[in-house]
Amino acid sequence: MSDRYLPRDFARLKRERQPIAVVTAYDAPSARLADKVGVDGILVGDSAAMTMLGYESTVDVTVDEMLVLTKAVTRVVPRALVIADLPFGSFQTSNAAAVRNAIRFVKEGRAKAVKLEGAGPTLDRVKAIVDTGIPVVGHVGLTPQSAVALGGYGPRGRTAKEASRLRDDALALERSGCFAIVLEAVPAAVAARITETLTVPTIGIGAGVSCDGQVLVWHDLLGLTQGRVPSFVKQYAALSPTIEAALASYVSDVRARRFPETQHTYPMADVELDRFERDLSAAGATRRTSS
Ligand code: KIV
Repeated sequence: MSDRYLPRDFARLKRERQPIAVVTAYDAPSARLADKVGVDGILVGDSAAMTMLGYESTVDVTVDEMLVLTKAVTRVVPRALVIADLPFGSFQTSNAAAVRNAIRFVKEGRAKAVKLEGAGPTLDRVKAIVDTGIPVVGHVGLTPQSAVALGGYGPRGRTAKEASRLRDDALALERSGCFAIVLEAVPAAVAARITETLTVPTIGIGAGVSCDGQVLVWHDLLGLTQGRVPSFVKQYAALSPTIEAALASYVSDVRARRFPETQHTYPMADVELDRFERDLSAAGATRRTSS
């Protein structure tokens, strides 16, 4: 196996029953850290709309904005499989639009794969993109781009009928050519049955431990989310209070002139400083403020 992950490595991990670890990242320093610890995949998710760009929902983020974030990630990730999310409006209108935008994420963004939400009309888009040679990840269950239209941000597949539809949608996405499928906010038992039905790996988020892999949003995982965190998230750190305390110390040091200290400044030879002062006097320079 080469060091760089390819979609077929996700298939191999499923065959070998090795869970696939995916995390979102949207900037170079985060992506570097994720790659360094050995994640299998990095998703430049459209959750960036809220986590990075301050929008209210994922529907607001544009292709151009997502491209900037995708490039920041791919520039510094030598190993993990980088998957770019196609944002709302970039694939819904036609196969041609879907292919054109997917190509932008691969050619300009240097992503190795793209992710699309939904089934139904999305199936045709998936086929069209896969036909151009671009690997595609599907996404069913809670699909935030259409959450409002489809009844809010709650879990999906909690009735037998809905669970069967989810399974059918996942199978249809596999048949359309997806090499992996995200299952979001789905009962663990339903996700387990879908996972054993599919030959391609499932990547769960709020879908239980039987999925072939897991994905979490960077800010949720590290305790950086402002506001509500979904109940399925496990926070592995609480970085917001640490960052706030550091920033507050900095502000208070600046205001008290405790920062910068000598070791944070550039020294200058006394002889040069004397010369500088003499030059200033000779030029008749005056001090505008007294120290
Ligand atoms: O945008 C995103 O972060 C996602 C994950 C929640 C799967 O789509």
